[in-house]
Amino acid sequence: MRKFRWGILGTGAIARQFVQGLRSLPEAEVFAVGSRSEASATKFADKRDIARRHASYDDLASDPDVDVVYIATPHPFHAKNATLCLEAGKAVLCEKPFSVNAADAERVAALARERGLFIMEGMWTRFFPLMEEVRRLVSEAALGEVRMLNVDFGFRADLDPASRLFDLRLGGGALLDVGVYCVSFASMVLGRPSGFVGLPHLGETGVDEQASIVLEHEGGRLANLSIGIRTTTPQEATIIGTEGYVRIHAPWWRPKSMTISREGAEDVTVEAPVSGNGFNYEAAEVMRCLEAGKTESDVMPLDETISVMRTMDGIRASWGLRYPGEEVTP
Ligand SMILES: NC(=O)c1ccc[n+]([C@@H]2O[C@H](COP(=O)([O-])OP(=O)(O)OC[C@H]3O[C@@H](n4cnc5c(N)ncnc54)[C@H](OP(=O)(O)O)[C@@H]3O)[C@@H](O)[C@H]2O)c1
Repeated sequence: MRKFRWGILGTGAIARQFVQGLRSLPEAEVFAVGSRSEASATKFADKRDIARRHASYDDLASDPDVDVVYIATPHPFHAKNATLCLEAGKAVLCEKPFSVNAADAERVAALARERGLFIMEGMWTRFFPLMEEVRRLVSEAALGEVRMLNVDFGFRADLDPASRLFDLRLGGGALLDVGVYCVSFASMVLGRPSGFVGLPHLGETGVDEQASIVLEHEGGRLANLSIGIRTTTPQEATIIGTEGYVRIHAPWWRPKSMTISREGAEDVTVEAPVSGNGFNYEAAEVMRCLEAGKTESDVMPLDETISVMRTMDGIRASWGLRYPGEEVTP
């Protein structure tokens, strides 16, 4: 396989981890970084021995030697940053959530399709080896017909109104930060929901600090989601079928083991060890797709990303939660 030169857009917490993940892949070269500030680009690049550093996102996007850009900015900037990169002819891996609402996601997807360029949401959970096993269990009906699932993702962050988690202008709140994992997981297992009910607790900065959501799927199948940014939850996922259930052990969003329980049979625990820090799996998928000339991943297709955003739009609308600058109430 040819070597792909990656550009990193943004120098925050997840950009640091992603670079570490990329470094475990021989087909990837961490080639360039772009930041809003020269000082931050230089510091990030020096510390990681990255050849090229750019003092603006525009300069990174127009660097002719960059093949693919990883977007690691707060959610409200994803659509703008992705548009910049696509217009410059780059392939893109964009952190989750792909955007703050479905309208933005649709615009970005349309641009990528029009230009024939690759773009994928960085829903890294889907690419772990254990998740491949989970999809196989479901598709082979090893649990019978799936009727329900329970999934939770909550962690305790200190209340800091300036942090992206609590600032509405930075897309704060549990739904977009961790809820997207749960909605995407339910979508992977049960498909697109036909309805939902949800109850949030909006905190003092106006963001959804925690919420319970039930997604309804065709035939009365249900997904129970518990999410939060002020409480740590068990971070487990259970898929329940007519002939048994599987528990994906914590943290289910970085999965490495699960236990399958079936009536009249011994429990079976399946282990799928993780190599690297886990970000390598989604990056490897991007490069596999690029090598094959594909513009979308079959594991995280754009239409599914848009569908997940639509579901979250609907949930937010029912809560009256809107982000500043959104053109319309989702
Ligand atoms: N996949 C995962 O497991 C995972 C985990 C955590 C976060 N994420 C996602 O990654 C994204 C970034 O999260 P993070 O925790 O890395 O955030 P962060 O530490 O706050 O870093 C975000 C970076 O974005 C850039 N940026 C551009 N405009 C900004 C603005 N107005 N305010 C603040 N930063 C701005 C900054 O880089 P420069 O100053 O260099 O321009 C900053 O360092 C989020 O969308 C989040 O959902 C994914």
